Amino acid sequence: MPATIQHIDVSAAGETITKALESDGAVILDHFLDSETLDRFNAELDPLLAAADPERRFLNPAVEWFFGDKTRHLSAVAASSRTFGHEILPHPIYMEVCDTILGPHCADYILNIAHVLDRGPDSQQQLLHRDEAVWAHLPKPHPDVQVASIIALADFTAENGATRVVPGSHRWPKDREASTDEIAIAEMNAGSAVIYLGSALHGGGPNSTASTRRRGMHVSYCLGWLRTEENQYLSVPPDVVRTLPKRSQELLGYAAHDALAIGGGYLGTVDLVSPIDLLDSRFDSRSSRQRQVPEERNRPNEPRQEDAK
Ligand SMILES: [Fe+2]
Repeated sequence: MPATIQHIDVSAAGETITKALESDGAVILDHFLDSETLDRFNAELDPLLAAADPERRFLNPAVEWFFGDKTRHLSAVAASSRTFGHEILPHPIYMEVCDTILGPHCADYILNIAHVLDRGPDSQQQLLHRDEAVWAHLPKPHPDVQVASIIALADFTAENGATRVVPGSHRWPKDREASTDEIAIAEMNAGSAVIYLGSALHGGGPNSTASTRRRGMHVSYCLGWLRTEENQYLSVPPDVVRTLPKRSQELLGYAAHDALAIGGGYLGTVDLVSPIDLLDSRFDSRSSRQRQVPEERNRPNEPRQEDAK
């Protein structure tokens, strides 16, 4: 019998959801976004995706191979979608699950990447993979470092490429391969989400339909002391971050990672304070350094201090 993924309504207690996630490595949250939020978010995405080129180039040919050339991508979503920045990024269920799973291993967790993937017909089965493999330098075993998810922004079916997930694989040795009957298909209605640990095997399914696009969004969070896949500071600039709720600002990495309580230190400071405290006063379209340099130091005919050594 083929593997299945447990469905839990998003209204269930956070503890129930977290327990299922820790047990199976993945769980589907039904009604993760209500229909009004889903429609509003999709309306924001429509023109942005219409302008996306599926044959765009990437950093490395392996990335092109991984995503294929039938997918329209949208990254830096917090910079272009109010619904994402204000409501989805700090979604209470994301926060509750991350508090439990990632909270014990960092001072705070942050957004790793937020990426819409609109997979067209003829998209191929993605290689089954573990998202946490991006931090391959991390020795094993290690605690959970990532909570990831795919939000269905359209109905996910076996035919249009619903995400394939291997329940229980978060406990497997790295080199164990999944047999066909161990792979579950995350079929779910638009607005639901499959949430999974970074250690769980999964991959986008093949889209065998003639004309149906499978729009989904990958959102993942990681320990606040890890380098993120998406550079949020440049993806979502201060002028936009300033308009977001404080929790979203923190999740985008604009808070220092303060681990002093466990003998660690401050990561990500600006001028030795948390950048979030400077958002209202220091960052604008000019660099803060420009604004601080006294006018007289910029006079062209006078030696600069650095030149006088
Ligand atoms: Fe993935």
